[in-house]
Amino acid sequence: MAASVLLPTPVLVAFLLALSCLWTAPQVVLAKHRSITRHYTFNIEMKTVTRLCRTKSIVAVNGKFPGPRIITREGDRLVVKVINNVSNNISIHWHGVRQLQSGWADGPSYITQCPIQTKQSYVYNFTIVGQRGTLWWHAHISWLRATVYGPLIIHPMPNTSYPFPKPYKEVPILFGEWFNADPVAVISQSLQTGGGPNVSDAYSLNGLPGPLYNCSAKDTFKLKVKPGKTYMLRLINAALNDDLFFSIANHSLTVVEADAQYVKPFKTKILLISPGQTTNVLLKTKPNPPNATFFMLARPYFTGMGSFDNTTVAGILEYEQPPSASLKNRPPLKPSLPPFNATNFVANFTSKFRSLANSQFPANVPQSVDRKFFFTIGLGNRPCPKNQTCQGPNGTKFAASMSNVSMVLPTTALLQAYFFGQSNGVYTTDFPRTPLHPFNYTGTPPNTTFVMNGTKVVVLPFNTNVEVVLQGTSILGAESHPLHLHGYNFYVVGQGFGNFDPKKDPSKFNLVDPVERNTIGVPSGGWLAIRFRADNPGVWLMHCHFDVHLSWGLGMAWIVLDGKLPNQKLPPPPSDLPKC
Ligand code: C2O
Repeated sequence: MAASVLLPTPVLVAFLLALSCLWTAPQVVLAKHRSITRHYTFNIEMKTVTRLCRTKSIVAVNGKFPGPRIITREGDRLVVKVINNVSNNISIHWHGVRQLQSGWADGPSYITQCPIQTKQSYVYNFTIVGQRGTLWWHAHISWLRATVYGPLIIHPMPNTSYPFPKPYKEVPILFGEWFNADPVAVISQSLQTGGGPNVSDAYSLNGLPGPLYNCSAKDTFKLKVKPGKTYMLRLINAALNDDLFFSIANHSLTVVEADAQYVKPFKTKILLISPGQTTNVLLKTKPNPPNATFFMLARPYFTGMGSFDNTTVAGILEYEQPPSASLKNRPPLKPSLPPFNATNFVANFTSKFRSLANSQFPANVPQSVDRKFFFTIGLGNRPCPKNQTCQGPNGTKFAASMSNVSMVLPTTALLQAYFFGQSNGVYTTDFPRTPLHPFNYTGTPPNTTFVMNGTKVVVLPFNTNVEVVLQGTSILGAESHPLHLHGYNFYVVGQGFGNFDPKKDPSKFNLVDPVERNTIGVPSGGWLAIRFRADNPGVWLMHCHFDVHLSWGLGMAWIVLDGKLPNQKLPPPPSDLPKC
């Protein structure tokens, strides 16, 4: 610290104090760099597209499908003006953004805001703190996110680098799920009849279904590469209802980041990515252009009882070839993918993710817990209304729940009701800490599997260290559920098959380098334990990122109270917050 010799003592003391703050509060690191504000405008408008030989009109952003890229840097502020020019009401969620003290900009409809009505607009204003990597944005109402989604790319701060060699090029790859029908009509029909919704007609890579579907050879995503280089693929699963396996023929991938947090790098030939999850992988190309092209394939992982879209999306990895090479009539090589129900592969793959947990990127996993919760997560049903016939299980309606509470969205936004002290008739604070009627969760289901309806929340004092065990149930079939928490990352401290054992399992928790994520699959027929510190005041939705399960009620909300200090309080809403 040679420069300090020149400084007068008070300045030096102030400087040292500031420096010590850097160690304890990562937010303060922002002060080191001048953060900038980036402005975007999102025009929500209809767009005509042709896929699978059919032309239809979809809801899109700025005439793009998939939607525009947001590219920013850690520490920067984003100001996105969303203008609704379609007949649907809409809101946009910035999936995975911590939204520290900016809960009004989170975006889930009826949770942090009412949707933006036709011809209205809303400005989302938030800062990216302590995150770098790939996140994404999507519509958060009904099933509009089927076509309203795009990447949110966060570069590291200036003068900082990746904890791995800088890639030659970076390529976002969004997995999508395509419906020939109007996705909003598909879910309304399911909610009406009580039956499972029609499954999708195709999966897509960057909006393109690829040559394994009818009429789609011209709609194929091609990744053109040079030999001997490292590419970073920014993978985003934007599919509505399907976990996806992904693999590239004759190439392996190195996972380096998940949900905008670095992980200990590991190599794999096959990935599983759940809806809501994002991950960065490095693809090292072969030193010399090979005499072949390579399929990149994705298809679902599924263990449930209903039907699912069992088709495969294909893209092509192509090397730049010397002019003499002729690959014309050779079909691309195909990777092999696990069977649809490869639960053991999935468990093994998920357990490979570990935090870097070093001094620069510590794993701040709570070592002690103030409040423990045990939630079940799974399907159920509700009675068929009189004078109707229903197409769900045994003539009832399909439902989904956490701890048997099926979430009913209120008509006023929860955050608004909470902030202005008007919770009466909007929500109750009695979401159960443990299930009211325990049963053998992964064994024979109880006699009645009817859910109860409610808009129930858990209230947490500021800075509570929370542990939640999420127990999958086998009611109407065991399935994996990609659970997503808004406003936080959590640490995944444990997972297992069967019923969670509170006596034995906690001793195996990883409190050293657990992965930090915003979305994680609760294993099919198993459980998962997460921890987080409730240091962000606001109302935060936690839900299954399968849209069908969310629509059926698989979610709940946390209310995190303000802390005492000024920088621990949620500020009032912006003046253009949409009204219901
Ligand atoms: Cu990506 Cu509540 O969602």
